[in-house]
Amino acid sequence: MTVPPPTPSPSGASDDARQARYTLPVIKHIGVLTSGGDAPGMNAAIRAVVRTAIARDLRVSAIYRGYQGLLDNDIRELGARSVANIIQRGGTILRTARSKRFQEPEARKEAADILHHRGIDALCVIGGDGSFRGASLLHEEHGIPVIGIPGTIDNDIYGTDVTIGFNTALNIALEAVDRLRDTAASHDRLFLVEVMGRNSGHIALNVGVAGGAEAIVIPERNSDVGDIADLLIGAERRGKTSSIVVVAEGAFPGGALALQEAIEERSGFEVRTVILGHTQRGGSPSTRDRVLASRLGYMAVEGLIAGHAGVMVGVDKRGTVYPKLQDVWENEKEIDEQLLEIAAVLAI
Ligand code: F6P
Repeated sequence: MTVPPPTPSPSGASDDARQARYTLPVIKHIGVLTSGGDAPGMNAAIRAVVRTAIARDLRVSAIYRGYQGLLDNDIRELGARSVANIIQRGGTILRTARSKRFQEPEARKEAADILHHRGIDALCVIGGDGSFRGASLLHEEHGIPVIGIPGTIDNDIYGTDVTIGFNTALNIALEAVDRLRDTAASHDRLFLVEVMGRNSGHIALNVGVAGGAEAIVIPERNSDVGDIADLLIGAERRGKTSSIVVVAEGAFPGGALALQEAIEERSGFEVRTVILGHTQRGGSPSTRDRVLASRLGYMAVEGLIAGHAGVMVGVDKRGTVYPKLQDVWENEKEIDEQLLEIAAVLAI
């Protein structure tokens, strides 16, 4: 499949970015790194980038430990066999880091010099919003063709319907909710299950709907303890003997444990809280995440070859899309309103 070159748009792109885009060198050597929190499926994306590059007669180098490794010149060229047997593995074989130093312009200049010195003329960055901010600055300031591949369990990336790792994290959290349901029902108990998501509630909302939660608490909506307690008291009056509340980690000050205390105080219910934490990040990626990662890794390299730069590769109802990185990290993905409504109606 051939990806069409980007269409010049008079609005949006800055002059510098446009200039950078049209003076792109022919790409011969791609660097790939993972940055931010690991997500299941990152290895499948690395494999796809490496093998697509080699299939297109490009050289490809691994940059270890994200931007930190780039600054430390921790770089090694890869062959097609070096990514054998990793599609099923969680984590990232390239390892990852959150580099504070890369936020400084001098550090990005150093990084650009290292890439030039190594003969790496384009970069694939697999990560989330923070990683894309760095990638977009590297592109704008130094004209390096950069493409982002969305990899985070949080699914909080604007410009793509879904991110690598989200589906696996949902499955892990859902399995926990299903298990807790058994104990909740046996003991007539209320369980709070705290899921990850940083400042977003996409994991909580989807796990809540799939797990039949009585309530879902997310940062995108006000979480008034009085309302939550009233809702649970109402559920008990309607004959429910146990309940599950899915709480996004960023939804309530002090997290689910603080919410537990407040609910107990107001309702007198016996509450237990389970914090799933990093268990949602590890483990073998689901089929969906492996397929998504393979598609995005492949389309990232095809996109770079076609001249897309300073963009992310994502998917939405139109198929593969290449939104500008700056739009991606400057905008927030909205929560699915309809799913929120469905969750409330189905919890009667
Ligand atoms: O962004 C992924 C994520 O797992 C968030 O859901 C969570 O808030 C954060 O990373 C945790 O970061 P760390 O692994 O640094 O504790």
